[in-house]
Amino acid sequence: MPSSVVNLTVNGREQEFLARPAESLLTSLRDRLGLMAAKRGCAQGSCGTCTVLVDDKPVMSCLVAVETIEAAEVRTLEGVADGERLDEVQQAFLDGFATQCGFCTAGMIMTAEALLAENPDPTHDEVVEAISGNVCRCTGYRAIVAAILDAAGRRK
Ligand code: FES
Ligand code: FES
Repeated sequence: MPSSVVNLTVNGREQEFLARPAESLLTSLRDRLGLMAAKRGCAQGSCGTCTVLVDDKPVMSCLVAVETIEAAEVRTLEGVADGERLDEVQQAFLDGFATQCGFCTAGMIMTAEALLAENPDPTHDEVVEAISGNVCRCTGYRAIVAAILDAAGRRK
């Protein structure tokens, strides 16, 4: 099957690679670039574990054909920390026990990053609404919502 060349900036680094027709961004990130934080859960847009930012907007990367975002800026969880230093959202998740098995965590954090970039002081309900596309089977969501609100406070 013919492949096409795709150029993206991923976590600040320019990347050029071959992708199959209709290959998902999630597959490109995991299988071609070795970035494994975004998870393959449902692979059909239902769980949010694959959430990354494309040009600062959260997207379910399993639903995005990578050839349609040529030259975009992609950010994944691997690009959030500053070296060894976790960012406020990551640290709040850690401190607030907002992760258990961790399968949803990368997607949750990227959704939270997008929310806080757009709305630095969200209400409880706005956080709940923002993460409504991200499924967590473990935590009951309370600790996650609290961690995102805590992160907003840390950034003030
Ligand atoms: S793996 Fe993409 S939404 Fe579930
Ligand atoms: S921590 Fe297990 S799915 Fe969210």
